Amino acid sequence: MTRQPILSVRHLSTCFRTDHGVVTAVDDVSFDLYPGETLGIVGESGCGKTVTSKSIMRLLPEHLSFLKPESEILFEGKNLARVDEGTMRDVRGAKIAMIFQEPMTSLNPVFTVGWQLDEVLRYHTELDRDGRRARAIEMLRLVEIPNADKRMGEYPHQLSGGMRQRVMIAMALCCEPDILIADEPTTALDVTIQAQILQLMESLKTKLDTAIMLITHDLGVVAQVCDRVLVMYAGRAIEEAGIREIFKRPRHPYTKALLDSIPKAGQRRRGERLATIPGIVPSLFELPVGCRFQERCAYREARCDAEEPALVPSDDGRAVRCHFPLNPGDAPQPEIS
Ligand SMILES: Nc1ncnc2c1ncn2[C@@H]1O[C@H](COP(=O)(O)OP(=O)(O)O)[C@@H](O)[C@H]1O
Ligand SMILES: [Mg+2]
Repeated sequence: MTRQPILSVRHLSTCFRTDHGVVTAVDDVSFDLYPGETLGIVGESGCGKTVTSKSIMRLLPEHLSFLKPESEILFEGKNLARVDEGTMRDVRGAKIAMIFQEPMTSLNPVFTVGWQLDEVLRYHTELDRDGRRARAIEMLRLVEIPNADKRMGEYPHQLSGGMRQRVMIAMALCCEPDILIADEPTTALDVTIQAQILQLMESLKTKLDTAIMLITHDLGVVAQVCDRVLVMYAGRAIEEAGIREIFKRPRHPYTKALLDSIPKAGQRRRGERLATIPGIVPSLFELPVGCRFQERCAYREARCDAEEPALVPSDDGRAVRCHFPLNPGDAPQPEIS
């Protein structure tokens, strides 16, 4: 039996109208998300991760942005790229929920935690007042917030960063969505709290059977929780593979460079800066002819400057966008005639 994806993104291209013309921030990106799995979307800042997730949720300002007509976001037999705002409102929160890097963008400072959970439940469920309160407390317990009863009456500023992120997760999961999109959910937290939140997400995934799209610039985070990874660079999908394969045998030089920049345990000293990849992601206004990673690539050849490689799937379920992939392994080799 082949598994059916719960979400299929096909040829997603998201454009912005700017003072200097139209830019394509997400360029022909396709991927599937399967029930119960965690898919990592990885890439440096500016590669199009957030725009991808906001496109799926249809949260981008309509006067500034548009999806190209071939874009498809297939969910429950509908193409979310085309549905009306009323349908989207029923999908958001109840079926696909999203959490952000900074909880204060989603939590309202002037309402208590309990009130905010109640609002989500009031909108999306038929529960009465007592039922909603019981459910809200149950959710706070589920995300391992101590004294859930008491916390219900507190305001976001009374909570620590880690506790706020837990409340956000409780709000996102209280309607039991099929999909949770987590955009850099742990980036603002210190390492210990980050590990706790990742562990929590891992245990919730098993309990609630939610499919997770985890967006991060940090392959270290991916290693802890993801089953599969899509690597993005300058708006393009450049590599897709299972978690083991990507760490053992990355095929795209960019993926390898990201892996090389993960600090190894004990290697990083206090105050020392994180290793980074030399150079920067090209501006969307000045994309090079050829491979978008050429400027920074250690394996660059003349062909890389002349022609952009296609994203080529291989028999082992992986895909890579590179003329000269590393670790080709048992991928089918081009026939020489
Ligand atoms: N409102 C906007 N107008 C113009 N460009 C935008 C807008 N929002 C995002 N972008 C551009 O889209 C690209 C991808 O951004 P984003 O998805 O936020 O990156 P990431 O989440 O990977 O760090 C960036 O080059 C960014 O400048
Ligand atoms: Mg982002």
